[in-house]
Formats: sequence, structure tokens, C-alpha cells
Amino acid sequence: MGFDLKDLLESRSGEGAELWSRYLNPQTARVLRSVGLDRKWVRAEGPYLWDDQGDTYLDWLAGFGVFGLGRNHPVVRRALSQVLDGELADMVKMDTPLLAGLLGEALVARAPYLDRVYLCNSGTEAVEAAIKFARYYTKRPRILYCGHAYHGLTAGALSVNGGKSFKSGFGPMLPATEIPFGNLTALERAASKGDVAALIVEPVQGKGVQVAPPGFLAGAAGVLHDRGALLICDEVQAGLGRTGRFFSFEHDEVQPDLVTIAKTLSGGFVPVAATMARQAVFSAVYSSMTRVLVHDTTYSHNNMAAAAGLAALSVIDDEGLVTNAAERGDELRRALEDAAARFDFIRDVRGRGLMVGVEFGLPSSIRLMGRYAPLTLLRKGLFTQMVVCALFEEHRILTQTAADHMDVLKLLPPLATTSDDVRWFVSSFEAVMGAVEASSRPVWQFARGLATRSRDGARVGGTTRL
Ligand SMILES: Cc1ncc(COP(=O)(O)O)c(C=O)c1O
Repeated sequence: MGFDLKDLLESRSGEGAELWSRYLNPQTARVLRSVGLDRKWVRAEGPYLWDDQGDTYLDWLAGFGVFGLGRNHPVVRRALSQVLDGELADMVKMDTPLLAGLLGEALVARAPYLDRVYLCNSGTEAVEAAIKFARYYTKRPRILYCGHAYHGLTAGALSVNGGKSFKSGFGPMLPATEIPFGNLTALERAASKGDVAALIVEPVQGKGVQVAPPGFLAGAAGVLHDRGALLICDEVQAGLGRTGRFFSFEHDEVQPDLVTIAKTLSGGFVPVAATMARQAVFSAVYSSMTRVLVHDTTYSHNNMAAAAGLAALSVIDDEGLVTNAAERGDELRRALEDAAARFDFIRDVRGRGLMVGVEFGLPSSIRLMGRYAPLTLLRKGLFTQMVVCALFEEHRILTQTAADHMDVLKLLPPLATTSDDVRWFVSSFEAVMGAVEASSRPVWQFARGLATRSRDGARVGGTTRL
């Protein structure tokens, strides 16, 4: 018999880490082993994952935000099966495929002043398009970006990354200038130089889960427009309902010129992303028939991607996911603020909707201070990694640190999260905090083990990306 995926999965089961070590990025398997996150996942549904021991885990990492709808959503599965069963003519290229057109229509309906859509495959590609479009439209080279920004890792997106570690060794970058997140005065200064095409900004930053101060986005749009530059809002992570509004910039009174989306749009199945733009920008870039392919990518209009996007948008509406994210997010933050009043290590609880950060810091108690400081001296962020590992090992909840060298726990649950799951998380988190504050041996021993393993070569902070 020829190729059979089911047979392959059964006959090679359990070899993933070995194959990764041999053929893909070997550091992935190393890092996961060193922090004890190296489970073998066999099934997934909604917000839950099952390992090969039959244990259920709550997934509050959600594939870095891809699983906004949860995993294996039946409506998206059905749409994709229909594409396959329909034996549609895909990517003819000399055509105008209906499903891509419908996805464009459905997206524009969410923000009619952004009346054109460029479809692509990933968040970083959507950002590349936004950068190119802004540069072409304004005929200026420079992009402004914020400290701690993350917009992807292709060369253009990397140029507007607000951290040094990703960029180091990959230069030279595009002309780009960093400003402090939320600082209008700095923006004004940087935008006044006359060479600025746009500011790119995440209304809620993935790194550290920082929320733009009220009025910043609207103020930024004013500053930029006065100087002939554009505002790009990167909604790849925070968009499509995660913050309790369809777009996270809707928390402010602003209409950006370009918007990037991806992740949740995939329905958790097929890579799909989009750059939404004002017509004037699009008309400048695609100004004549000879420029029809001036920015494009082979897979951009494929039927599986468009079907996944359409199904995802429909699920967001039909299941009231935007409202659910707002309500469950409020429940979660209230419970965590209550915990912050009781646990000395918690410095801040922040975020919007179901994009939440818990920042840890030096406790006021001398006894606890002596525990926190050495860990932090060893490596900033190690305390949070310990919390992530304790949540995982002892309570079967998958989370992440919000960035390297930051003591921020990041929570990114699926948008359909229930109050029961919020309670599962909060009671587990309180148990971990209680154990840490009581200096219960296993937790601190674990932290020391982690520190030693990290010194031995596997940088434990490497489990975070954004
Ligand atoms: C705000 C933001 N922009 C862009 C990206 C890049 O997306 P991708 O990983 O699909 O290239 C990410 C990824 O996490 C992101 O969070």
C-alpha cells in the first residue's frame, strides 16, 4: 500500500524529539527537555491537550495565539473537509478565486475604512507587506517602532523588533527608529525628521503584555498624519476578539491606515494572514496593470486558507467569542488582582480581555527576598519559568513567560474559555504561589535544578518567543 498517514503516525510514534534533534532545530528538543515540557501530545480539543499517558492539560498558551477558537474546531474542520471533498480548482493563478474574495469582503465589513485586503500566509509576511506599502505610499524609507515590539522575524519585521537578541548578527537592518512604547513626545520627535513612512505598533504588546496608554494610538495617528506618515496597527496576536474587541485598537478612538492580522484567522489549521489598508495606499501600490504582481506570494489566495479564515470569522460571531473574551478576561483579572493583594511576589496584573500578564518582583518580606534575589541574579525571568513549570507539572496547565529577561507570566487562553477553566487556572496559580511563599521545598529545589540545567547550556528562557 502507498502512503498512509495513520500508519506513519502509529509506526513512528514517539520519535519526534529524536527526529527534531537530527533533522530540524536541535535546540527545541533540548530546551523542552531541560524545562520538563517534553510531553508527547496525542490529542487536542477546544482548550485541552492530552498526552500519551492519558492526562488532560489546559492549554493557555494556545499555540502563541493561533488557537483563538480552541483546537480542532468542528466548524473549521467541516469547512476544510468541504474544500477537499469539493475538488475545487485551487491556485490557478490566472483567476480571481471566490473564497479569497469572500474573505476580503468579510474582513472589510469589520473596518470599512480599511477597504482593501492583501492576503498572505503568516504574521511576519503581513507586516512585510505593511512596511512595503507604507514606504511606497509615502516614498519615505524609515519605520518607527516601539521598545519591546515583536512583529515577526523576516528581515523587514526584524528591523522593527524592539529587542536586541533577535537582531544580533542579522544586520544591517532597514532604516528604523525605536521609540518608548506609549510615548507621544518621543514619537513627535522621531516623526519630525521628514523621512518617516509609518509607526508600527501592537495596541497590546505580546512581550510583557503592555497595554498602550489611553489616547496613545489616537494621538499617534494625529502626529503621524500631520507629518505625512501612516499608522500601522499590528493585530496579529491581539486582534480578532482576544482583547474583548474585534480589533484591539478599538479600545482607543483611532482608525489606523494599515492593519495586520493572522493567528486566530487560521481557525487553528491553515496559515493565513492579511494586511488591511486604506484604498489610497492600495491604489498607489497597485496603480496599473503592469504592477499587478508588484507585491504577492504564491499561496496567498489558496482555498484552504480562505475557507479557514471565513469559518473562523463565522465562529467568532456565532459563538459570541469577542464578548466572551471580554467577560472571562474580566473574571480572570479580578481573581488575579485579588491574588496579588495576598501574594507578596506579585507586582502587577495587566492586559485586556484574554491577553493577560502577571508580573513578579522583589517581595517585601526579608525571608522571601532572600529566595527571589539569587534566582533573579542568575537569570531574570527564572522565577516566572519556575511558575510556568510548576503550573505544568503539578496542575497540568500550559503557559509561558512573556519574554526573555522579564518576570512576567503570560496567559493566552482560547477565546471560548469557560468560567470553570478560569477557576481551574486561578486555584492552581494560587496553589503555586502559596507553595512558593511557604518556601515548600519541591518548588525551590526545582528552581535550583532549572538554574543548574540552564547553566549547563540549555537556555531555559528559550521557551519564550514573544
Ligand atoms: C504582534 C505580532 N506580530 C507579528 C507576529 C509574527 O507572526 P508569525 O509568527 O505568524 O510570522 C507575531 C507572532 O507572534 C506577533 O505576535
